[in-house]
Order: sequence, then C-alpha cells, then structure tokens
Amino acid sequence: MSGSPAELPIVVLDALMPTAQRLVVNRRGSMVWEVEGNRGHYAVKLGYPIEATADWPGQPWTALAPAREGTVLHRLGFDDFAYGEWERGTWNFQPWHEGPDLYQLWEPCRGRESTVEPHTSVALGCVEALAELHSKGWAHGDVQPAHFIIGPERTHLIDLALARGGCVPESYDFPFRGCLVHYEAPEIARSVLATGEAEATQAADTYALGASLLISATGWRAVEYPDDAPRPVQREAVAAGRRRSVKVPGEMGELIDAMLSHSPEDRPTIYEVGKALS
Ligand SMILES: Nc1ncnc2c1ncn2[C@@H]1O[C@H](COP(=O)(O)OP(=O)(O)OP(=O)(O)O)[C@@H](O)[C@H]1O
Ligand SMILES: [Mg+2]
Repeated sequence: MSGSPAELPIVVLDALMPTAQRLVVNRRGSMVWEVEGNRGHYAVKLGYPIEATADWPGQPWTALAPAREGTVLHRLGFDDFAYGEWERGTWNFQPWHEGPDLYQLWEPCRGRESTVEPHTSVALGCVEALAELHSKGWAHGDVQPAHFIIGPERTHLIDLALARGGCVPESYDFPFRGCLVHYEAPEIARSVLATGEAEATQAADTYALGASLLISATGWRAVEYPDDAPRPVQREAVAAGRRRSVKVPGEMGELIDAMLSHSPEDRPTIYEVGKALS
C-alpha cells in the first residue's frame, strides 16, 4: 500500500497507528483511505468543501458528510467506528470490508457475447443488506452498485452519509439533494428539479437497487438519455420515466422491472423483493 501518513489527520493516526495505507479515491469533496494498523483494517473518510468554479456553485456540505455518516452509524448501533473534525472538514473511520462491489462482481455478465447469468444469491445478499437498514426504519438515499461490497460472509451496504430515519445533529446535517441520476427514482428527480431537494425514502431505495442490479447485470442504465446530457436533462428523462426496454436475463428480470415501477406505490417493498428471490 502507498500514500504518505502525513496526509491523514493526527487524531486518526493516533487512533489507528497505520502500518500500511492506500488512497482509494479522492473526488467530489471526499477522500477515502484503506488503512491497516495496530487496531485493525479500516476505511478512513475525509470530507472537504468543493470550491465554487465559473460554472459550478460551491458545495460546502461535502465537508460534513463523514461526520454525518458517523452519527448515522451511531444511531444504527454500530460500535467500531469514530468521527470528528479536521482542518478542512470532518472525518470518520469504520471497518474495511474486503471484496468486490456489485458492479465489479458482475463484470463477466456484461460482455456482448456473454453467456454468464447474474447469480440470484448475489442479488439476495444486496437485498438483505438493504432490508436490514429498512427494518431499523431508515432509508439509505444513495443506493448504487459501488455501495454493495460482496464479502465472503455477507454483503455490506456502505456510505450512509445521506441516510434518513433518525436524529442527526444540526451542525452536521444538510438537505438531501438527490443522488447519482442513474439510480434516482422518478419522484426524487422530479422533486430535485422543482425545489433542489427531495425526500429519501425506502421506496426510492428499492428503485435504486433495481437500477443497480440492471446496470450491473447488463451494462445498461434503466432510463434512456445521452451520456453527455447535462444533469437536469438526465433528471427530466428519469422524471418522465423514459425506461429503456432492457431486461435482466432469467427469473430476476420481472422482479427488477417491478422494482423500477414509475410510481413508488407500485414497487415491492424490500422484504417482498427478498421473499421473491429466496
Ligand atoms: N468500509 C469500506 N470497506 C471497503 N471499501 C470501502 C469502504 N468505505 C468506502 N470504501 C471504498 O471507497 C469508495 C468510496 O466510498 P464512499 O462511497 O463511502 O465515499 P463517497 O465519498 O461517498 O464516494 P462517492 O461520491 O463515490 O459515493 C467505495 O466505493 C469503496 O470502494
Ligand atoms: Mg459513496
């Protein structure tokens, strides 16, 4: 692993005593490190503000995201994590989960000539991870293929920075402004277009999981819009429900279509999805 320890906040270094570390991503106001040390194997997240540019307004909330996630982990009853503040924003660390994400795992299914069918058991692992969160009364708000880590024992649903369902201290809170448009339910896209904000719901999570399974299994987005379309144009296509007629092969196809239903009332709950798959 590589990366200079000097780039991690002192409190994090003190807590984890790194012996090896690797910068995993640094984009859109967020850095994630994989750190191994005396205490164990952890993901360290550092948030910082996105500065304004000529064609993009500043986004100060990205600085708060790790601490917000920390408070959510606390509310959900996890114990092996910590969060706090550093010079540029907030940080957290939490256990590192080994394994490919959903998109990586299903890569062999996506080839043009591929005869590999996506495994129902993998989809069920993702469903169970989301159902666990829903059963506690929370919505994730940012369900996407990269957020499901398929481990040897179980599947982990990561990145709870946008989750809703319990109290979050005002100083670390910020409004929900939608997620990656590919996984955004029509009602979320519509609300973001109209007001700039939306309500993260369990029904929208179900849609997002349907869109995640579809893109991971087939390589196609649920909704049709040009790759380079500006975000509002993408959201308009989603809000209008311009569904692409692509189906996941096998028995999961119908179920994923139902998860992608235009109106939230027509979507199965995550428990119903689980029942249908098992
Ligand atoms: N606990 C973890 N275990 C393993 N990998 C992790 C963990 N947390 C984060 N990662 C890795 O870091 C990536 C980014 O993490 P995360 O999604 O939490 O941060 P983010 O700032 O919200 O990034 P994005 O904007 O891409 O969603 C993940 O896709 C995953 O590859
Ligand atoms: Mg993320």
